[in-house]
Order: sequence, then C-alpha cells, then structure tokens
Amino acid sequence: MNNNDKPKSASRRAALRAGLAGGAAALVAPSLAAAAESDPANLPPNVADWTRMLGEGVGARPYGKRAKYEEHIARRDVSWLTASPQSSVSFTPLHEIDGTITPNGLCFERHHSGIAEVNPTDYRLMIHGLVDKPLIFTLDDIKRMPRVNRAYFCECAANSGMEWRGAQLNGAQYTHGMVHCVMYTGVPLKVLLNEAGLKPKAKWLLMEGGDSAAMTRSLPLAKALDDALVAYRMNGEMLYPENGYPVRMVLPGWEANMWVKWLRRIEVGDQPWHTREETSKYTDLLANGQARRFTYLMEAKSVITHPSPQAPINHKSGFTVLSGIAWSGRGRIARVDVSLDGGRNWRAAKIDGPSGDKALARFYNEFEWDGSELLLQSRAMDETGYVQPSKAELRKYRGVNSIYHNNGIQTWHVRKNGEIENVEVS
Ligand code: MTE
Ligand code: CO
Repeated sequence: MNNNDKPKSASRRAALRAGLAGGAAALVAPSLAAAAESDPANLPPNVADWTRMLGEGVGARPYGKRAKYEEHIARRDVSWLTASPQSSVSFTPLHEIDGTITPNGLCFERHHSGIAEVNPTDYRLMIHGLVDKPLIFTLDDIKRMPRVNRAYFCECAANSGMEWRGAQLNGAQYTHGMVHCVMYTGVPLKVLLNEAGLKPKAKWLLMEGGDSAAMTRSLPLAKALDDALVAYRMNGEMLYPENGYPVRMVLPGWEANMWVKWLRRIEVGDQPWHTREETSKYTDLLANGQARRFTYLMEAKSVITHPSPQAPINHKSGFTVLSGIAWSGRGRIARVDVSLDGGRNWRAAKIDGPSGDKALARFYNEFEWDGSELLLQSRAMDETGYVQPSKAELRKYRGVNSIYHNNGIQTWHVRKNGEIENVEVS
C-alpha cells in the first residue's frame, strides 16, 4: 500500500466513536462469535460426551432449533440510529451467513409502527377504485389462486444510507444488512387485478399496509402487470409477522419501502397519490437542490461479507477465502470483480450457487494472504452491462445529501493483525 492509498476516514471514525460515547465501537463487540470453550476430555483419543450417551428423541424439538453455539447469530439494531424501536430497523447478519437465501429468522426488519399481529381469520385484502368489480379476498381465497415460487432480494432504499458522507458503521451487517433474499410463494398481482377487471383509465395503484402506520405507496400499473407478487410464504413457511404476515407485496428489483407488508388495500387510480413515503421520504436530494422522485429501481451493488469488520482474519496468513454477495434490480448478476489493493488491480470472482433474476448472487475469491495490509473491494456488473460505481463516481452525480440509493463500492481495510475497518480510498 503506498501513501496515496492511506485510508481517509480513520480520524473521522475516531471522532465519531468519541462523539457517540462508544456507540460505533460497541457495534463490533456483540457480533464477534465467542469461541465455545474446549474440554480436553472430548478430544481424541478420548470418546466425546455426545458419543457416550443417548440424545433427545424426535419430537423434543417440534420446531427446529439452532445449536446453542450458534445463538449469537442474530439481527441487530443500532440504538442511536432511530428514536424508537417501533419505527426502526434491525440488520441481517451478513457476515455470519453464506449462500444466497436468507434464513427467515435473520431477515432484516424495518417497521414504521412496529410489528402488526394480524389474525389470519380476520385478514382481508380489498381491491377497489377504477375496477369493474370491487373485491375483498380472505387469506383462503388468496391461497386458492394459481401461485408461483420466486427468489428475490429485498433491499431497503436506505441501505448504506449512513455512508454518503464517509465511512461510518463498522460492519457489513450495519453498512449493508438491509437486504435479504428468500423464496416467495404468492399470486401474481395481475391475476387478482384480472379478477377485479381494470377500467380503461387505470394507470396507478395505491398499496396500503394494515399496520398502524398504514404505510402507502403508489405503484405504476406496468409493474403491477409485470412481475409483482402478492406473497404469503417465505422459504416455504408462512411469512413471519416481522415481514408482513400473512400477506405482503413483492416488487422484484424495486426499493423495499414499496413492498407493503400486512397488505390491506389496493386502490386503482389514474395518477400517483404523492404519499409521505414518496415525497418527504424516499426521494434523493441532489447538490443543486432538486430531488429525484420515484426512484424505484435498486441498482447493482455488492459487498464482501467475509473477511469484514465483524469477521476478521484469524489465521495470521496463508490460504484465505474471500466471499460476498451481489445483486441488481435490473436482472441477473453477470460478473463480480474483487480487488485486494483498493481498486488498483481487479480479478474476477467465482459466482457459486443459485443466483437468479433480481436475486442475490454469492461470490468467492481464494488467495494466499501474505499477512500484509489489504484494501478489499468488490464491484458487481449486471446482465445489462451496468457496473457498480465507486463512491467518488456516485457522488459526482448524486452529491452527499441523499439517504437512499447508495450503491457505491465498499472498502474494508485489513490490518496486519487481521482486524478490519470500514474505510474509503480515493
Ligand atoms: N409495510 C408496512 N405496512 N409498514 C412498514 O413500516 N416498511 C417498509 C416495507 N413495507 C413497512 C412496510 C420498508 S421501509 C422496508 S425496507 C420493508 O418493508 C422491509 O421489509 P422487511 O421488514 O421484510 O425486511
Ligand atoms: Co426501507
């Protein structure tokens, strides 16, 4: 690493730590797995405890439970980010999982008014407005309709939103953990709209949530008739309450704010409604004072999940597997490049495992670590040829006033001792 590559943000982060009374430093501690204590009596040539006794019988755990040694793997929030836990976010522990499908219990959650506990028997979905026949569906009605299975990523537009003005949060869970990818089962929205019959003037839909935020967003009809799903299962199970039980919108490739949970009502109209979530929120203030609006699409993005600040390198040097995730709202991930030297040299990563249209892709790069400092980066390219920009390139167009849609390239600084920090390089 030469002098020009020196991380720029160390002092900013030090100040942040001091200013937040340990807030940033505290982010790292709880997620580093404490290795379970070893008992020499279990090690060869002895016969281990678990080999010398009968285990619990079937039925002891009617709903599967993780090994007790894995219980630290959990969603986490950042208490100082939001004023109340009801209008807040908990982040997916990206550094603790692999593959491309997020386990249901680890999917990040974002609520504006807490988790609605909907009784499925009393659940209703209304469709009205510019339709021939207003309809009210029960959950059983929805489950009786033709259904499809699709794996899609779901990313909050505010993911990486804290990083616009420089490196801030120390861990992939916090910088990139507002993304998950599950297999949804649901009814294409167009099937429900066909039942109701669209009037010729129909152009826009309003989607409303059944939580006390009654979150509403306008949806262009073209997307509704394309790949939008009214989903009720994730990874085969019914949706979890945190993620919208019993029914949520799934809008592949589009910002998660529009994926209305606890879906209660769809109104068909001829123009957008200009709700709070598409005016004062979920717009992007540019340097010239203008704001971009209706920026639905989530552009290609990637992040290295291991090694990363919460998953440091513990083996001093030698063979090292680097891994991460990439995704694009435009379609499939075609290629991911990784750099060990802050973007000077790039090498193609290997994509492995299922990675479909608008779903997470998993990439790996294997290298011999010589124990010197590294600046790790990953850069995604999607099937349309769109290439994930550097943070500097992104700021040229977007300035630094935005919260949403930050898909800039992330840099992790690996120190000689294997510890890792969130930094930026120019
Ligand atoms: N839908 C309702 N009804 N209420 C909400 O607060 N939050 C939105 C969206 N849908 C929200 C909602 C936001 S901002 C995001 S990022 C996603 O849900 C989060 O989905 P998840 O909790 O399943 O991760
Ligand atoms: Co969101």
